[in-house]
Amino acid sequence: MADVRPASLKRINTKALADAFIDDQIKAIKEQVGDRKVLLALSGGVDSSVVAALLIKAIGSNLVCVHVNHGLLRKGEPEMVCKVFRDELGANLIYVDAVDRFLDLLAGVTDPEQKRHIIGEEFIKVFAEEAAKLDGIAYLAQGTIYPDILESEQGIKAHHNVGGLPPELDFELVEPVKYLYKDEVRVVGSALGLPDKMVYRQPFPGPGLGVRCPGAITRDRLEAVRESDAILREEFEKAGLAGKVWQYFTVVPDFKSTGIKDGKRAFEWLCIVRAINTTDVVKCTVEPIDYDLMCKITERITHEVPGINRVLYDYTPKPTATVEYE
Ligand code: XMP
Repeated sequence: MADVRPASLKRINTKALADAFIDDQIKAIKEQVGDRKVLLALSGGVDSSVVAALLIKAIGSNLVCVHVNHGLLRKGEPEMVCKVFRDELGANLIYVDAVDRFLDLLAGVTDPEQKRHIIGEEFIKVFAEEAAKLDGIAYLAQGTIYPDILESEQGIKAHHNVGGLPPELDFELVEPVKYLYKDEVRVVGSALGLPDKMVYRQPFPGPGLGVRCPGAITRDRLEAVRESDAILREEFEKAGLAGKVWQYFTVVPDFKSTGIKDGKRAFEWLCIVRAINTTDVVKCTVEPIDYDLMCKITERITHEVPGINRVLYDYTPKPTATVEYE
């Protein structure tokens, strides 16, 4: 049967409407779960973060959050999740350092789809293992949002948040934002007091930096992706572009070219900068990046990131290119 957004639910575009939604959801969550425990995979993305903040308000430490670090997160991300949720919101948070586990499994794997598959499958395994260690979990919370439901029903994509969980995770679901669109989830997140950095962050793929380190992932090249991405984000923020440009990131292909560093030959990787704008991600245009800004980013990446001697800007719209390289 179709899961339809209730007609009584107004479009949430003000703090007052978000506050009313939060009050309603807190009541509904309390009614649904009582004093039983709820488990949540907290990635640090907008949807799971908002669900976590809502559930902390409703049931406090009966929400158990699991944050899996698969080694493919952006610089500072696991730290931010722990700081915001454990230190500031007092969440019952389990941090799982699974970096070696993922990177060992991915070593030598060149096929993009196989990489995605390994990352997705291992993530569920790690999460299920953590769930098995806990006593008395009765529910699983998920950051399903309305477009996920619509796209699943229309057969566009089998969203990872909708159905298809392995039997060991077959708990009853708690999905408090499932009738909201992304912009509404952001308004609710702000009303819950989550930092703008978390609520207005750009989209980030599930396989993370893994798809920005084309071919077989090595730890040194992955580190070059992470460091160059951090520099790009910092410079975009300083230039007032964060929150304005839809998505921007760096890619470090498995290709070296000749250069000069400290007067010596440096045979090193190149770093591609990509910055795109879109409304629907079906078609994307390229951000016309300012020349001086690009020079500054190039200077910083080539001087601060070990192993990179050259920076390129990708001027290709979608189509013909996709947003990500894999
Ligand atoms: P493409 O590369 O298909 O990207 O033009 C469109 C948007 O989707 C994101 N993307 C992903 N997100 N898992 C995700 O959760 C993935 O495997 C994945 N691949 C691409 C991409 O970042 C862009 O926003």
